[in-house]
Amino acid sequence: MDNQGQTIQQQSKRCRLVLFPLPLQGHINPMIQLANILHHKGFDISIIHTKYNLPNLSEYPHFTVHLIPDGLSETEASTSDIVLLLKLLNEKCVKPFLDCLAQLLSDDADDHIACIITDAIWYFTQAVADNIKIRRIVLRTGSVGSLLAFAALPLFQEKGYLSWKDSEMDAPVVEFPPLKVKDIPSIETCTTEPYQVVLNMVEQTKKASGLIFNTFKELEEPESDKLQEQFLVPTFAIGPFHKYFAASPSSLWTQDRTSLSWLDTQAPKSVIYVSFGSIAEMHEDKLIEVAWGLANSGQPFLWVVRPGLVNGSEWLEILPKEFLEAISRRGYIVKWAPQQEVLSHPSTGGFWTHSGWNSTLESICEGVPMICSPFFGDQKVNSRYVNDIWKVGIKLEKGLDRVQIESAIQKLMVGKEGEDIRKNIMCLKEKLDRCLKPCGSSYQSLENLVDFISSFRPPV
Ligand code: UDX
Repeated sequence: MDNQGQTIQQQSKRCRLVLFPLPLQGHINPMIQLANILHHKGFDISIIHTKYNLPNLSEYPHFTVHLIPDGLSETEASTSDIVLLLKLLNEKCVKPFLDCLAQLLSDDADDHIACIITDAIWYFTQAVADNIKIRRIVLRTGSVGSLLAFAALPLFQEKGYLSWKDSEMDAPVVEFPPLKVKDIPSIETCTTEPYQVVLNMVEQTKKASGLIFNTFKELEEPESDKLQEQFLVPTFAIGPFHKYFAASPSSLWTQDRTSLSWLDTQAPKSVIYVSFGSIAEMHEDKLIEVAWGLANSGQPFLWVVRPGLVNGSEWLEILPKEFLEAISRRGYIVKWAPQQEVLSHPSTGGFWTHSGWNSTLESICEGVPMICSPFFGDQKVNSRYVNDIWKVGIKLEKGLDRVQIESAIQKLMVGKEGEDIRKNIMCLKEKLDRCLKPCGSSYQSLENLVDFISSFRPPV
């Protein structure tokens, strides 16, 4: 990064930004990375964080951290109903957030708090910002395409797509190519209806002063153009964030570094790395399908089985003894991995992912082709783009079935299709590398963002 940071500090005393991450791993990582990027550009950073899912922020002594109570009961904090959790957080954090922010503003003698930057899913913060007359910039941690798909939920409902039968799921959504009906970002895994939460997120984002995306122009150009028509908000595509700063220090779980020494023992590009992110849950039967699909593929694999991946299970106790014997030294299973380092390891040749947005970007950055098994929400949209638009991976169209898994792994790792996909992802990776260089799209967009935020400051 360049010296613009110094310039900002010289212009006036201090310019402080208050960032408020949504306390889920896939949202904490990009917000903390953004905090580092903006700090490097010369802004002072305060983080307001819930006590729930607090990462080890002592890793960031250059930030001022303020904890707020989230009011979640033990049962609420451990719910697997993610929509309910988001709804509760947005209700219970209003007062603690407002009190904390008001305190920070009243302490604002030396610092000038230019704006707050909050996750799009913290939709309540727009009303707080309006109330106390401070600008709010939104960080949307997912893709532009998925935000458009969320914004189109009322249209999908009006057209009746949300009540289509299982047998009609492969039909195209004619108003929203390339989506099929099954890719509409619904969240079937929850008992709480997601519609209102999604609508709140979209509507309050439209009222923000600015919108930051962890993406890059060349990846989502048509989607960014469409977004400009619907969201009349200055938008900044400055990603991928982890090319500036790694996500690992904000990890909520300990990353098992033996993954890397195991990878050292494997042949170049031979290993398929498997991880379904930080929230996804699956039924016991599906875990067994995944296990046998991996074993039968004959390919070496590194598999992250997060405790909690199968609701109610401790860890690996439901895997059959025969499976563990069959894989012997060909497979390695950990609870949580140093994902970025795994993806950049020379032995890693493929990534079987749930298509969370961070994982998708991290894979593109390392030129690692994907197999996609989306679980819910934006993951469905991301995986469709990976398969149909960018052509950098294979989507498992029929869910988790051992025969389909085995065949997809072989296609990706040793087949002709895999070779073509590998070429495509290398091409995309080159575009990505260029976008971060001086005059590249993300580089320029970050400069614009810095100027934009700096314009909020009172005159010196
Ligand atoms: C969630 C949603 O599932 C996703 O769709 C949305 O885009 C963001 O929020 P999550 O399940 O956490 O995300 O997946 P993802 O977005 O891929 O983020 C996971 C993060 O955890 C990545 O930064 C990844 O590097 C890290 N990770 C994952 C590890 O450090 N170790 C692991 O073993 C697995």
